[in-house]
Amino acid sequence: MTRHSIHKLREWKAEGRRFAMVTAYDYPSARLVEQAGIPIILVGDSVGSVVLGYESTVPVTMDDILYHTRSVVRATSKSIIVADMPFMSYQWNADEAVRNAGRLLQEGGATAVKLEGGSHIIPLVSRMVQVGIPVMGHLGLTPQSVNQFGGHRVQGKTPAAAAKLLHDARALEEAGAFALVLETIPAELARMVSERVSVPTIGIGAGPHCDAQVQVFHDLLGFYDDQRKLRHAKRYAVVGEVIRNALADYAAEVEGGAFPTMEHAVSMSPGSLAELTAANPHLLDAVVLAEIGTI
Ligand code: KIV
Repeated sequence: MTRHSIHKLREWKAEGRRFAMVTAYDYPSARLVEQAGIPIILVGDSVGSVVLGYESTVPVTMDDILYHTRSVVRATSKSIIVADMPFMSYQWNADEAVRNAGRLLQEGGATAVKLEGGSHIIPLVSRMVQVGIPVMGHLGLTPQSVNQFGGHRVQGKTPAAAAKLLHDARALEEAGAFALVLETIPAELARMVSERVSVPTIGIGAGPHCDAQVQVFHDLLGFYDDQRKLRHAKRYAVVGEVIRNALADYAAEVEGGAFPTMEHAVSMSPGSLAELTAANPHLLDAVVLAEIGTI
């Protein structure tokens, strides 16, 4: 089974076919995403917040993304796997950036990489594309710059900021990016970008006019009941509650002696048990006798 091609995404846009992308970070989550028929999985650096317990994506490293990408790749055979380039894996120098992007494909098995940023990364995107590394762009609220933005703030609200974002989107397309994530920008701006580039725009908190949408696995599924108040996220399930209740039931049954029963156990054959107790009569205590009785 071969994976979907990144070129399909541009065709889907031309046909007006919308699609979903979702993050996944490990074998079970990626299996479920692919089984749900979602064609593109992002091994996002959001792993830092929703899996590793960091306050932002800034501490996430190349080793983290490589580790999680490998598990996602092992779990899937059809989905396009996009690996996020972590903070400082591509800002430091261009040679190192290309090498790190290459590692995500070569060692991680990713189909493509995603980089945050606009005009300042255009030469880097061109270079990656030239050496055969498919690149997804990411504009708007780019979480690796959260300290620079002073928090998770809507981007592209002023005419100047909106014009710059439109310019950056076109420049990324020209540099060869195959898709663009637009995060937390006004819906009107996302629509303008989507109408002006031929590659798909993938929105998160960018309104309904993008060609595709992306959401974070744990936000969609309601893993956390103290969920960050995210206006852009919709919960399609409350999986955290289901898991917590199931774990509490398990613990209560163990503590109360209701689990396990002989239904969940294996028994020695009557012959082996008889032979054992004949050779070791001191083992013939009440428990063993009772067991023999139940066999
Ligand atoms: O890391 C991530 O999950 C992302 C999405 C929010 C687009 O970059």
